[in-house]
Amino acid sequence: MIPIRPVIRGTGHYLPARVVPNSEFAEWLDTSDEWIKSRSGIERRHFAAEGEFTSDLAIYAARAALANAGIDAADIDAVIVATSTPDYTFPAVATQVQAGLGITRGFAFDIQAVCAGFVFALANASGLIAAGQAKRVLVIGAETFSRIMDWTDRTTCVLFGDGAGAVVLEAQDGTGSAQDRGVLACDLNSDGRYRDLLFVDGGVSRDGRAGVLKMQGREVFRHAVEKLAATAESALDKAGLQASDVDWVVPHQANLRIIRGTAQKLGLPMEKVVVTVQDHGNTSAASIPLALSVANAEGRFKPGDLVLTEAIGGGLSWGAVLLRW
Ligand code: UT7
Repeated sequence: MIPIRPVIRGTGHYLPARVVPNSEFAEWLDTSDEWIKSRSGIERRHFAAEGEFTSDLAIYAARAALANAGIDAADIDAVIVATSTPDYTFPAVATQVQAGLGITRGFAFDIQAVCAGFVFALANASGLIAAGQAKRVLVIGAETFSRIMDWTDRTTCVLFGDGAGAVVLEAQDGTGSAQDRGVLACDLNSDGRYRDLLFVDGGVSRDGRAGVLKMQGREVFRHAVEKLAATAESALDKAGLQASDVDWVVPHQANLRIIRGTAQKLGLPMEKVVVTVQDHGNTSAASIPLALSVANAEGRFKPGDLVLTEAIGGGLSWGAVLLRW
């Protein structure tokens, strides 16, 4: 039997029009451009406009990915949206995307693994494709984290932004070797004992509120570098490859110091790392597909390049997907 490989056929992204530079926070909050930049690498982020929702961002990104792939929306079998900031408690944002794109068949659902959401969604989409459940899947990360910020908490509200990124994943024949194009290995992890390190303090079942984000940043940071390097190594192991084989790392964009630390632990130079955190801030599940799309639009990936994605976030949940472009 010829093994099926889920291959990225197209990418797209959308960023809301409003750009908020660090200096804007300094006008009303006890912070500075210097602190934000030196501690996180963030220089600016985008915030969604009033009346602009996660599904709107997701639909724009999906349209761009379909155009980049040269695929009609009617040829999509499944839509998966990774998000922790859905428009409604239900239905899933993915069904709104489906309707927005005029797709009337197939299936659509959301995945909630916070900042690791896109990696979890990509792994799930790959599984569906490998199992023959779908041939073409739109995998989207879309967030409006500006809606769950505590604007009195300078330790969190300067770090996050809004945006969406999307990929079209398509079943293609492979040979089963690590030279195949497409997803080669996935590694997913969660440990709910760390829930209190990063969470939103409201919810449907608890109090009917959306709540605001709470983070013990220093503690999350401590876990991040170690767990990200471990999950990356694990994905490489599963594919029978090594860090030295990697052409590009597309990491979750939370903090430049975490991105640098992880690359260093893997023995990879920063020239091989896609960095967009300075322009987007932390867009949670949207950060990796945004970075993938920006780098792809710049023509940085060549066919055959080995691309490693890795992310960690609330849960804690973390993981990596290794793929060949
Ligand atoms: O995406 C999900 C995963 N999330 C992450 O990966 C985030 C992980 N954590 C981080 O990125 C970093 O821990 C932060 C950027 C959140 C913070 O950086 P840090 O180097 O760990 O700083 P810190 O929390 O140790 O705070 C250092 C100081 C504190 O003052 P004292 O106690 O030393 O007097 C803070 O009160 O910086 C102060 N501080 C600020 N100062 C100016 C905290 N926030 C601010 C601020 N402006 N916005």
